Amino acid sequence: MESPFKSDVVKGKVALITGGGSGIGFEIASQFGKHGASIAIMGRRKQVLDDAVSSLRSLGIPAIGFEGDVRKQEDAKRVVESTYQHFGKIDILVNAAAGNFLVAAEDLSPNGFRTVLDIDAVGTFNMCHSALKYLKKGAPGRDLSSGGGSIINISATLHYTACWYQIHVSAAKAAIDATTRNLALEWGTDYDIRVNGIAPGPIGDTPGMSKLGPEEIETTTPREDMPLYKYGEKWDIAMAALYLSCVSGKYVNGQTMVVDGGCWLSKPRH
Ligand code: HXC
Repeated sequence: MESPFKSDVVKGKVALITGGGSGIGFEIASQFGKHGASIAIMGRRKQVLDDAVSSLRSLGIPAIGFEGDVRKQEDAKRVVESTYQHFGKIDILVNAAAGNFLVAAEDLSPNGFRTVLDIDAVGTFNMCHSALKYLKKGAPGRDLSSGGGSIINISATLHYTACWYQIHVSAAKAAIDATTRNLALEWGTDYDIRVNGIAPGPIGDTPGMSKLGPEEIETTTPREDMPLYKYGEKWDIAMAALYLSCVSGKYVNGQTMVVDGGCWLSKPRH
């Protein structure tokens, strides 16, 4: 679908996107690139990164990939530094890396619980913490008049209520939302950095959906004429990310925008 944004809304910006090699992260990377940004993507799988970078470059987007695991503080630091060395500044950080699997709480080992908390919640904080010095107003490479940078943390809606077999993910995403609000307060005040989140609903054609496909959509005939009970597109999330990152979102801070067609509000009628 064609973007409603002008093609230069993030022109000259540098965006670092974790989990940017596939799924929602890659769509955000592509759309930021198509709207003028230079892109660094971080991920654990070299081949996925290489393919994603080739694909971005084939669109004329300045792009580079860095292997790394957001759970490791040294990787977070290295990738942030490498991004700065390569592009000369960082304007936008998108935390899209996530881990997931379905398992009943009684069958989930404490290490399995910790693993997803580590990837999603600790990983998000590691990246934010490492990127802070480049996102502050007046940071190296940043034009003083452009203020501070922007962070977007990819969350979910499953922890608003409760969700079968995803206690680990629910806990992790709740921690991410708290991190979003607290950093928005502290870093918005001190450094003019905006920190927001996006909580996608069920988005078709993503690793998350193929692993977790929500029952309420699988057991109900999707209704394309209703916002509820149909899959979203990765594009929907990328447009929300653009809105939050460019000047349109300049007064939005500490919010997690739910982009799910209203899905979490209700169970379908059977
Ligand atoms: C039960 C499992 C498990 C499973 C791993 N574990 N997979 N337990 N069921 N299916 C447990 C292991 O037994 C181990 O605990 C611990 O978790 C660590 O497992 P490892 O395989 O050693 O960890 P690692 O190699 O780091 O891999 C972590 C991973 C990873 C989370 C499983 O493979 C991964 O991230 N894969 C999926 C990526 C993905 O799907 N991304 C999209 C996310 S979508 P023990 O005790 O045995 O040592 C998303 C949407 C959220 O996040 C919103 C949904 C609505």
